[in-house]
Amino acid sequence: MPEIDDENQELNEADTSRLSGRMRRYAKVGTSVGGLAAQVVGARYLGIGLDRGKHSSDLKAALGGLKGPLMKAAQILATIPDALPKEYAEELRQLQSNAPSMGWPFVKRRMRAELGLDWQKRFQSFEHEAAAAASLGQVHRAVGPDGRDLACKLQYPDMLSAVEADLQQLKILFGIYRRYDKAIDPSNVYHELAERLREELDYEREGRHMLLYKDMLSDEAGVHIADLLPELSTQRLLTMTWLEGKPLLDFVKGCDSVEQRNAVAMNMFRCWYVPFYYYGIIHGDPHLGNYTIRQDGTVNLLDFGCIRVFPPVFVKGVIDLYFALERDDPELAVEAYRTWGFDNISKDLLAALNLWAAFLYAPLLEDKPQRIMGDKGSLYGAEVAGEVHKELRRLGGVTPPREFVLMDRAAVGLGSVFMHLDAEINWHRMFHELISGFDVDALEKRQAKVLKAQKLPLPE
Ligand SMILES: Nc1ncnc2c1ncn2[C@@H]1O[C@H](COP(=O)(O)OP(=O)(O)O)[C@@H](O)[C@H]1O
Ligand SMILES: [Mg+2]
Repeated sequence: MPEIDDENQELNEADTSRLSGRMRRYAKVGTSVGGLAAQVVGARYLGIGLDRGKHSSDLKAALGGLKGPLMKAAQILATIPDALPKEYAEELRQLQSNAPSMGWPFVKRRMRAELGLDWQKRFQSFEHEAAAAASLGQVHRAVGPDGRDLACKLQYPDMLSAVEADLQQLKILFGIYRRYDKAIDPSNVYHELAERLREELDYEREGRHMLLYKDMLSDEAGVHIADLLPELSTQRLLTMTWLEGKPLLDFVKGCDSVEQRNAVAMNMFRCWYVPFYYYGIIHGDPHLGNYTIRQDGTVNLLDFGCIRVFPPVFVKGVIDLYFALERDDPELAVEAYRTWGFDNISKDLLAALNLWAAFLYAPLLEDKPQRIMGDKGSLYGAEVAGEVHKELRRLGGVTPPREFVLMDRAAVGLGSVFMHLDAEINWHRMFHELISGFDVDALEKRQAKVLKAQKLPLPE
């Protein structure tokens, strides 16, 4: 078998240089982040002028070598009011994955490791070039034995240590931030992101999330989820049917019918909130790459790597907060925040939290068709966030509970989708349709049933 040996030899060299490249990159990032930390601390305590805009682009340059995991964390953070200074959030949001893709010899080797020596016989065809980048790997198109078009998401080698390294970087970043700004204590945010990012390594679990979503959304005609091919999937290879559609922004560009844009917005709303209000489960990553739009306006929902299962009572808290705002009932609001996991809610803290909640719930509160943020412009969200932040700092800070992180991320992410769509909808009615007859015990039973069917754990 000289051929295979030759190939292995060559690939081992490729692997080795790749891995040492990655180690160097992390080492470099480590020192530059440290240096930037010194600058921030210097600016804060010694009164040394610091150009925050420049500083954040230095930070971006330092982090630019990193791949997906930290980027995903950064994108999520960018939606929490000032979890990071605004300039950082902006720079981090723009980070693009610049990881080199795996070439064909490397892909063959990875596939052999996942499916065995004769793996190519298990597909009619398998494209040599990746069709899309994934945060922990890449996606190849293929044709299955039965002729179906497939998407194969193949993980890079050694991502466990890459994720751990990214989490270390994130910890450092939070530490830096914490030293000069006390408005938000990010410790719970960190734990939540760490748990989700570690879960994301396990494509076998992601496959079960896919089936879970298929189950929860089985009655939704406006949503499609790929079929899983378990016999061609492993912990590091997820094989599913290929879903054809356009990225949202392309769809928007080519669509001047407001009815069609509204229809897409309503499908997106149900994609995210049917699972949440019926089952206490949310897709935590409404990133533009995680769904596509079909010609008929229905939505392909992709990427089940970041799924949050909430304790049922948390859903009740989210609904209670709506009624508290609607009726202007401070006692109910305090109870709702407590259920969310906020402690020691003073009158002032309540007012600050309500400012943010009023912003997020605004579209739901009025029974009329409306645009998200109306004519207030896209900077309005940042203004409200700035105001909340100032108040939190004055009050000595707050520790957002873990559950808050992805709930908030989903709301802000979807809000931005609805703004892109420029949709004008009666959100109030869409919401009331979902929560009418809400019963926390019934939700708990439904949730347990769908989780059990996929052998997924109940929430803590
Ligand atoms: N079933 C599919 N059909 C078509 N394209 C897909 C499918 N699954 C993934 N993709 C493409 O691959 C990209 C990365 O996949 P995704 O699951 O989002 O990976 P990650 O979890 O790393 O973000 C998606 O943005 C999309 O372009
Ligand atoms: Mg994705």
